[in-house]
Amino acid sequence: MSKAAAVSALMAGALAFGAASLRAQAGGGGGGDPGRGRQVYERYCVQCHGDRADGAGEVARWSQPRPRDFRGGVYKFSSTPYGFLPTPADLDRVIQNGLYGTRMPPFAALSTRERRDVIAYLQTRSPRWRSEGPGKPIAIAAEPAPTRESVTRGRELFEANCTKCHGDGTGNGPSALKGMADDWGAAITPANLTLGRGKWARTARDIYLRITGGINGTPMPEAGDALSPDQVWQVAHYVQALGGWTGSTPELRQFAAQLPPPGTEASSEPAPADTTKR
Ligand code: HEC
Ligand code: HEC
Repeated sequence: MSKAAAVSALMAGALAFGAASLRAQAGGGGGGDPGRGRQVYERYCVQCHGDRADGAGEVARWSQPRPRDFRGGVYKFSSTPYGFLPTPADLDRVIQNGLYGTRMPPFAALSTRERRDVIAYLQTRSPRWRSEGPGKPIAIAAEPAPTRESVTRGRELFEANCTKCHGDGTGNGPSALKGMADDWGAAITPANLTLGRGKWARTARDIYLRITGGINGTPMPEAGDALSPDQVWQVAHYVQALGGWTGSTPELRQFAAQLPPPGTEASSEPAPADTTKR
């Protein structure tokens, strides 16, 4: 090929790229139409996520955390193990519910088809989706009923695995106080678990998934095999006892309130319930 021919082939390639990159993607699996999805994106998402899907939309500078840069294919809130791409259902949940406490709004008014299409479009924005499919959802063990003993165990496991970041639950752990950054270079703080709601998590099941799978792009690690499914439930129930999470009961909160203050030896006799708190 002559140099000129090579250059014009390159240019044609560049022109075709937009269309071609919208077609037939390997991994996504949601069945949406990326071409139509682009229109949904340009109408509802571009002002934050940017016309290059780089998270640098017009209003991004007023957003803390920043809107996601989709080019890296890194998603925080998936049902799949740490490091794996999310399922279409995971993306659909975020789009429908938004992310509480951030600028990411709930798009409950978009039709199922519009959401499916915009998901297919997002899946054209990172090369990851061409070489990888979504991960396999984490299996969630059947939820045992919480007891005083299991919540006590949950608190011990929380202190061993979570306190260095989440502190007493409010997010004041030593690592947090030193300051930490996310994969996009922005400062990030551990969630305040006493609020009874995460950006994404609401139920014990959600907390279970976050403990097991971690949060991609942030310092929050996966527990992986370090905790058994029973232990993950114990921590999840303890977290539920810290605030008014969906499914948190007065009984759960009472179990937690009767535990000795953090850092002290577990006493055999439960302290009297502190009725002045919560
Ligand atoms: C007003 C600003 C705003 C608009 C509009 C917006 N987003 Fe977001 N979005 C955000 C922010 C901010 C985040 C990052 C939140 C975080 O990292 O904690 C985000 C994150 C996301 C994520 C990543 C979720 C994850 O698990 O990591 C997806 C997917 C997403 N947005 C999809 C969309 C789609 C699709 C639209 C349009 C239908 C849209 N967003 C419109 C602000 C916005
Ligand atoms: C190394 C620090 C670190 C450790 C250890 C850690 N977390 Fe986190 N966690 C974070 C950060 C940072 C966030 C906030 C992520 C964000 O806002 O995008 C977070 C967020 C969360 C959330 C909120 C999810 C949502 O929907 O917004 C839950 C629940 C949670 N952590 C539970 C736990 C539990 C339980 C443990 C122990 C098993 C734990 N974390 C260990 C750093 C940590």
